[in-house]
Amino acid sequence: MTTAVVPTPDSGTDDLSVWPASTTRLGHGGLAVGGVDLAEAAERFGTPVYVLDEGEVRERCRTYRAAFPDAEVLYAAKAFLSRAMVRWVDEEGLGLDACSAGELELAVLAGFPPGRIVLHGNAKSPRDLDSALRLGVGRIVIDSPSEIARIAAAVGPAGRQKVLVRVVPGVSAGGHDKIRTGTDGQKFGLSLTDGSALSAVAHVLSQPGLELAGLHCHIGSQITEVEPYLTALRRMVGLLARIRDEHGRVLPELDLGGGHGIAYRPGEAALDVTALARRLRGALAEGCAAAGLPVPRLVIEPGRAVVGPAGVAVYRVLAVKSTGDTVFVAVDGGMSDNPRPALYGVRYAPRLIGRTPAAPRPATVVGRHCEAGDVLAAGVALPGDVRPGDLIAVPVAGAYQLSMASGYNMVGRPPVVAVHEGAARLLVRRETLADLRRRDIGE
Ligand code: LLP
Repeated sequence: MTTAVVPTPDSGTDDLSVWPASTTRLGHGGLAVGGVDLAEAAERFGTPVYVLDEGEVRERCRTYRAAFPDAEVLYAAKAFLSRAMVRWVDEEGLGLDACSAGELELAVLAGFPPGRIVLHGNAKSPRDLDSALRLGVGRIVIDSPSEIARIAAAVGPAGRQKVLVRVVPGVSAGGHDKIRTGTDGQKFGLSLTDGSALSAVAHVLSQPGLELAGLHCHIGSQITEVEPYLTALRRMVGLLARIRDEHGRVLPELDLGGGHGIAYRPGEAALDVTALARRLRGALAEGCAAAGLPVPRLVIEPGRAVVGPAGVAVYRVLAVKSTGDTVFVAVDGGMSDNPRPALYGVRYAPRLIGRTPAAPRPATVVGRHCEAGDVLAAGVALPGDVRPGDLIAVPVAGAYQLSMASGYNMVGRPPVVAVHEGAARLLVRRETLADLRRRDIGE
């Protein structure tokens, strides 16, 4: 494999700062990730294909373990889950945050210890709770008052289940309205301000089958500042103190959720995980000392920041056309494998790979779906000679793309290929037309 740095004329798009650390430039505009030429991976596995750098995922897990040595780090499975991902997270010493029977069953089947899994969800189905109790998950997060009696009944008089109560601390943070969950007026959690959190705590404490292990909050996602976490932490410590005062109970755990922001394009801000760890530790020690509380064990639940930057989506260009002033570059995937631009207006930095590019010009990368809103990246710099058959790679594609993929237009969901130390292996195969037909059993 060639690893020499080859300068390209397209310096505007040649910034690899948001790519996996293993990314190297090959000759003639090629790129390798995890020692694997992306163009070769596209040939071998077809397109669209999602390439996941195992080393980058592991390294990110290690960064969290090092920054939070005394905390419990749970990987939020909703960002992306597969059996290999389960194994990497387990081997790196993280726990798991799951939010459905599907995620739970997959993780446990892949060998993940159920005691290190936490179950979330604003509306847990009977199946979710059955799986959680049957598999023996470590903790269940209570998200609404009605759940308390339901879980207590399912646990039965002889059982004992650890739970956390999800609190809405009244802190607004996050990259988009749809992913802000820290204030009243959205569906998650129990309000700190109107007293529902405290009354849920009282109800849980009255259930012999439930053990209240602590409090939980998750204020939002794609947060790039430390301050909102500090505000949430102080309010949560305040609630811990009230619970001690009113119920004589000192809770051993404080889960501050995930939401750690990453850069999708060069120059964008990312949350500094090491600074977050240092300042949370300081604020927790200080807040607890002032309240006369022992310091609870901190739990965090990053998803995006573990897997997002480790993934690259590779598409093939199917058509190029100019309409008015806009050059549309249409690729063989789109909103069915990445709904994020359409949902949150997120912007990506795609790049042509696999051949020497001409000078750049603005272009809009669109998908193949039957909607004008199926735009993957508007107004990005792509080589002026971009043409059908070219490969377009989109970095920072590891989180909330495949896990949110849909069956729109019956295109089929792309495969996931792990790359590591020069080898590529298929983790999740492509969804075929036969897969789609198999489910359609009526006449
Ligand atoms: N914990 C809880 C309770 C959560 O609800 C979430 C994400 C996480 C942890 C992990 O958050 P992260 O560290 O990944 O930001 N689909 C959206 C993101 C939705 C996040 C939902 N909850 C997106 O593509 O931006």
